[in-house]
Amino acid sequence: MRKNIIAGNWKMNYGPVKAVEYFEELIAILKNENDVIASVKEGKTSIELYVPSISLQASINAVKNLEYPVKIGAENINAELSGAYTGEISATMLKEISVNDTIIGHSERRHIYNESNADLNKKVHTAINEGLNVVYCVGELLEDRTSEKTIDVVKEQIIEGLKDIKDEEMDNICIAYEPVWAIGTGKTASSKDAQEVCCEIRKIIADIYSEEVSEKLHVLYGGSVKPNNTKELLSQNDIDGLLIGGASLKPDVYAEILKNSL
Ligand code: PGA
Repeated sequence: MRKNIIAGNWKMNYGPVKAVEYFEELIAILKNENDVIASVKEGKTSIELYVPSISLQASINAVKNLEYPVKIGAENINAELSGAYTGEISATMLKEISVNDTIIGHSERRHIYNESNADLNKKVHTAINEGLNVVYCVGELLEDRTSEKTIDVVKEQIIEGLKDIKDEEMDNICIAYEPVWAIGTGKTASSKDAQEVCCEIRKIIADIYSEEVSEKLHVLYGGSVKPNNTKELLSQNDIDGLLIGGASLKPDVYAEILKNSL
């Protein structure tokens, strides 16, 4: 049985001071949500927050004494482990502060910072070699969708981005399908469209790897997820979680999504 991964992505929001306030508020809200806590403790729901590098340590400290796990992850890594890469953060540095999870290939990295599938493939290998779990993001532009190229684009992002990743390494990777036109726009893909692509992603993984690997794979949907579309999206067969930008920034809204995910 695949669990539900409810992952928030803060993007470039909240330094360490705000991060601590956020977790204080979230933890206070979750104190009254026994069903959410029980589901997390049973391993059916995974609470994950991907936060700016500068806020990682403060966030880890804020959740470390809880009786249930809250994963704190990074939003990006460099493909190299050290060297002359001014301003960058490496997987080794993350490991040093016990961060075990990272997003790779978010559409903002692909489209604002021009990271190619080949660049992202290097990052995925680096992350896996260093023992990090990866949320690998894929998704089409509006023009790809209108010209019916969605599946081709997503397939290429998977084939090239996960090139030479071995079967057993897939245990540490989940794929987030985020149609670029649905990110931060208020336009959610319909649950049917989201399911269709997530199902294709599972088939692509079955073709490259095996049925077994594809059955174990967690496929997330992201793009204008809100409390009111959570249930419908998660009720789809091939959607095993959500990657949430804007709506994860308010602890009460994120908590509402957690509640609606049960
Ligand atoms: P959004 O962002 O929920 O604000 O659309 C999703 C994402 O970029 O991961």
